[in-house]
Amino acid sequence: MSSQFGRVFQISTFGESHGKALGVTIDGLPAGIELDVTNIQKELDRRKPGTSKYVSQRKESDQVQVLSGVSDGKTLGSPISLAVFNQDARSKDYSDIAHLFRPGHADYTYFKKYGLKLQAGGGRSSGRETLARVAAGAVAKILLAQINIEIQAYTLSIGNICAEFIDLDFAETHPLRCADPSKADEMLALVDKVRNDGDSIGGVIQLIAKNVPPGLGDPVFHKLDAMLAMGLMSIGAVKGIEFGAGFRASQMKGSQHNDPITPSGFDSNNAGGILGGISNGDHIVIQMAIKPTPSISKAQATIDIDGNPEMISIKGRHDPCICGRICPVAEAMAAIVLADAYLCNKG
Ligand SMILES: Cc1cc2nc3c(=O)[nH]c(=O)nc-3n(C[C@H](O)[C@H](O)[C@H](O)COP(=O)(O)O)c2cc1C
Repeated sequence: MSSQFGRVFQISTFGESHGKALGVTIDGLPAGIELDVTNIQKELDRRKPGTSKYVSQRKESDQVQVLSGVSDGKTLGSPISLAVFNQDARSKDYSDIAHLFRPGHADYTYFKKYGLKLQAGGGRSSGRETLARVAAGAVAKILLAQINIEIQAYTLSIGNICAEFIDLDFAETHPLRCADPSKADEMLALVDKVRNDGDSIGGVIQLIAKNVPPGLGDPVFHKLDAMLAMGLMSIGAVKGIEFGAGFRASQMKGSQHNDPITPSGFDSNNAGGILGGISNGDHIVIQMAIKPTPSISKAQATIDIDGNPEMISIKGRHDPCICGRICPVAEAMAAIVLADAYLCNKG
């Protein structure tokens, strides 16, 4: 498997959904950076399950422990290890379906590739794996804050209900991180309905990185958009990614898509803040398509590990819509990529 990412700001994550602990070792952060553990905890709290009826009811406190690399609140320049111990893994929830592949989940491909028996809770393919990314992302955000880079992700649409107005503060208070107060209840009602039907629903999230200086990203293979796409697409359930005008660019003329350049900056941002794989100083704007949560209680056809046809209905504790929970994870991966690009530039 591959659990390492980054060139200078390097992360190596570990842990399974129902294992003892999850965590990350971060290497490459310079010595002397003030690192307040409450900032890491705050980010983990934004991701954790059990915070509303619209997310998984798994009850985890997700208390982070700093095992190395920090002393007297400052980084030592040595590897920083962060760990969170699991408290509420209920493997028996999975015992009835332990021999079945969950449609839409990674059980089938993990079995075909690694030949191991299916792991309760999905092992490394569980959304719980993203905890380690968020811990690392919190550290990356601390570094980026020194150059005023801010990153926020929010839900733009769920099913066919689309935000028409973006209120970043409101998004942070909403259980699905809906950015439009006028669409917030409609989105909640839709998620309630699909859950009552034993189903789940997908959506689109948007991420904005502000104050990114021009010059981040290394053509040709470590272009900034290429690295962001890799980091963000490595999150489970992310199925598509667009920068700026994205796929709409394919229907535009050059005169519409090009962002006019003026002495005070760009007049529009169809580029999404990146040209030629290098940040242009404008906001980086990314949209991600999130698929519906695979685990649903509605009966579906599948097979067991011997290839026999079966029906499956998944009863465990699952997010009926993952959009809101992916937002802090997307922010973390974007922060990790930007921190890496920044440290690469510093040389
Ligand atoms: C934060 C987060 C939470 C998730 N929660 C669930 C869940 O409760 N149930 C589930 O079946 N999948 C959940 N997923 C999605 C699966 O992890 C993902 O669909 C699966 O690993 C298959 O990968 P793929 O969708 O990228 O092909 C979650 C993903 C993330 C990032």
